Amino acid sequence: MAGRIAMIGSNNVDLVTNLPRMPLPGETLAGTRFSTGFGGKGANQAVAAARLGSAVMMVTRVGDDGFGQDVLRNLEGHGIDLTHARVAKGTANGVASIFVDPSGENVIVIVAGANGTLTPADVDAAADDLIRCDLILLQLEVPLETVYHAIKVAARLGVPAILNPAPAAPGLDLAALRDLSWFCPNQTELAMLTGLPVATEDQIAAAAQSLLVHGIGNVVVTLGARGARLVTAGGVTAIPAIRVRPVDTTGAGDAFIGAFAHFLAAGAAPEQALAQAAGYAALSVTKPGAQGSYASAQEFAAFQATTVQS
Ligand code: ATP
Ligand code: RIB
Repeated sequence: MAGRIAMIGSNNVDLVTNLPRMPLPGETLAGTRFSTGFGGKGANQAVAAARLGSAVMMVTRVGDDGFGQDVLRNLEGHGIDLTHARVAKGTANGVASIFVDPSGENVIVIVAGANGTLTPADVDAAADDLIRCDLILLQLEVPLETVYHAIKVAARLGVPAILNPAPAAPGLDLAALRDLSWFCPNQTELAMLTGLPVATEDQIAAAAQSLLVHGIGNVVVTLGARGARLVTAGGVTAIPAIRVRPVDTTGAGDAFIGAFAHFLAAGAAPEQALAQAAGYAALSVTKPGAQGSYASAQEFAAFQATTVQS
């Protein structure tokens, strides 16, 4: 049975420009296509889990502008519980300017806007609903003090928390993460947070294991087209990627985390939930955009029937 997931974090409107190659500093380049979409790491993860069938609630702040209203309508359309989604008075919505090259790689600049106004008090105000959840999802697009507080509240309520430390924050206080059940960095974030090399499989394992010393339950390192690694006190498990032709990798990490949370909350074993997450994220990179590339449960089932592991 599908579980209940709380996402405490961000939402953005994505302003996406496709271009023939990434521009050089000072260069003006003609793009090939412009589009807008719904994004933000928090909202993306929430939408992925909701599309797969989880009951999802969001603790988030939208802008006091047209984008904020658009975001609320979009989330409502995905059936997400918005009891704790509020308008940040006099503040613009979060936005992300995204450049995508023909190989599907991207460069992203975010302006936090309303996301920067989510406070520890907002987390406390949602506590009566958080306690009814199977999992709490966190990222780093809202103030760090709010993330640290949410980790403490999750531990007090006895609800397992997953932190995706993205975008990378060099000053992250690892001691404040000790109550996390799941910590899910990508390769770059792992290097930045630990200060350790991550060029080889052994180095990735050692860097992830250094995080377990802080008390974190489990570490999942995502490695793009090379899949992911589950690192626990018991050792390392490789989660293979699914081979696809990438069109746009924007939001692949969020698709992975949202799907992982969905399958975990539904009762799957971690290795099984991660394998499903790798499939769901692979399908997302075959389509443009972030949330616009996330499949429904039915579309994902159809894709799985055709997949090949890398
Ligand atoms: P992003 O910031 O682009 O959202 P990320 O850096 O947080 O992504 P990645 O490690 O790039 O996260 O990707 C997350 C997961 O998505 C990978 O572990 C893998 O399972 C899947 N994935 C990403 N890129 C590809 C790809 N080109 N082909 C197949 N699977 C992919
Ligand atoms: O992870 C992808 C997301 O990062 C985009 O949707 C954009 O909004 C930025 O937050």
